[in-house]
Amino acid sequence: LLFPVILAGGKGERFWPLSRKDRPKQFLSLDGSSRSLLQATADRLIELGGGESSAAGGFPSAGDWRTPRGWDSLWVITSNQIAEGVRQQLPDLPSQNLLIESEGRDTAAAVAWTSLEIKQRYGEDAVIGFFPADHWIADQEAFAHTLSAATQLAASTAAIVTLGIKPTFPSTGYGYIEQGEKIGSFFNELPAYHVNRFTEKPNRETAETFLSTGRFSWNSGMFVFRAGVVLKELHTHAPEIIEPLEQHGPDIYPQLPKKSIDYALMEKTTLAYVLPVDFGWDDLGDWNAIERLLKTEETPNVELATHVGLDTQGAIIYASNPEDVVVTIGLEDVVIVRDRNVTLVVKKERTQEIKQILKILQSDS
Ligand code: GDD
Ligand code: MG
Repeated sequence: LLFPVILAGGKGERFWPLSRKDRPKQFLSLDGSSRSLLQATADRLIELGGGESSAAGGFPSAGDWRTPRGWDSLWVITSNQIAEGVRQQLPDLPSQNLLIESEGRDTAAAVAWTSLEIKQRYGEDAVIGFFPADHWIADQEAFAHTLSAATQLAASTAAIVTLGIKPTFPSTGYGYIEQGEKIGSFFNELPAYHVNRFTEKPNRETAETFLSTGRFSWNSGMFVFRAGVVLKELHTHAPEIIEPLEQHGPDIYPQLPKKSIDYALMEKTTLAYVLPVDFGWDDLGDWNAIERLLKTEETPNVELATHVGLDTQGAIIYASNPEDVVVTIGLEDVVIVRDRNVTLVVKKERTQEIKQILKILQSDS
């Protein structure tokens, strides 16, 4: 059995001004569908267990390697600021499965607290899967198969299981996983490997070197392990997070160090394994992701707005109000976003810097 947990406390700042404090990225639908990123993530995880009411299970010969059925199995951890929004978006989530952080302390604390809670309720052999709330996944069936394999591996080995994505460019926004020895095959003959090294967000030069060896994959940000295994590893590598939580409970939250699980644990543990996966994946990290999802050969721009353009190409244009008209002349490779009282115009290659401009805006006001 796998208990899926959605990590839903991030801000998604690089989608500003569409993402705001009261409306973070995971509440938005970025592909024009009616379900938000958070809702789509929940749907995907519920379906792993065979959907809400299907008794048969969602995928063939899955045996025990599936989630318990329905919403009872799903957990969400989020911050106080957006907890009400999460409740509204996921009305079927049982309230005892929603963990609310008094303050976001990044993902290491979130993983630690949730793992403690799940261990308390289901024992230390409960297999837990952590899932970011902001991913796009193309092939649900392949996703389900991969998770069956990951669950099998985690149940049978003291393993921190990662899912490795084939890298396509030297991104500096991802973790990199160096594949080691093959240790066996799981579920539908999916091979699993030891991890030799995990490097979070390397600089461009290092990322290029990694890519050229052919031995590295991107960390998908999804992790699978037994509660007891991850808690033991946190004791070894991140005692400054797990010990206060164990001793004082979540009241201590605001005092915990802000660290991601990638730096706090993945770069240090020797129990990491990787399943190379291929289910069509995208981290909807910034505006350029919209283009990867929606760009077609026929149209010069990606338009989620009423746009009238003359000699404009490679632009991503978004307006919340369909009555607003965006007019451009002679532009190339820009992002234009109009939402409420803000208009953003930025070169595509510099959308990462939205985070910096937000700091300036906050200190100005
Ligand atoms: N509950 C909670 N509390 N969730 C959080 C917090 C927090 O304080 N901070 C972030 N999250 C959630 C985000 O909402 C997101 O769903 C997930 O945790 C990952 O956080 P990001 O901030 O998006 O991480 P990242 O994209 O920089 O890096 C991670 O994901 C990459 C793949 O998308 C790392 O795991 C990388 O190694 C990985 O390549
Ligand atoms: Mg992310």
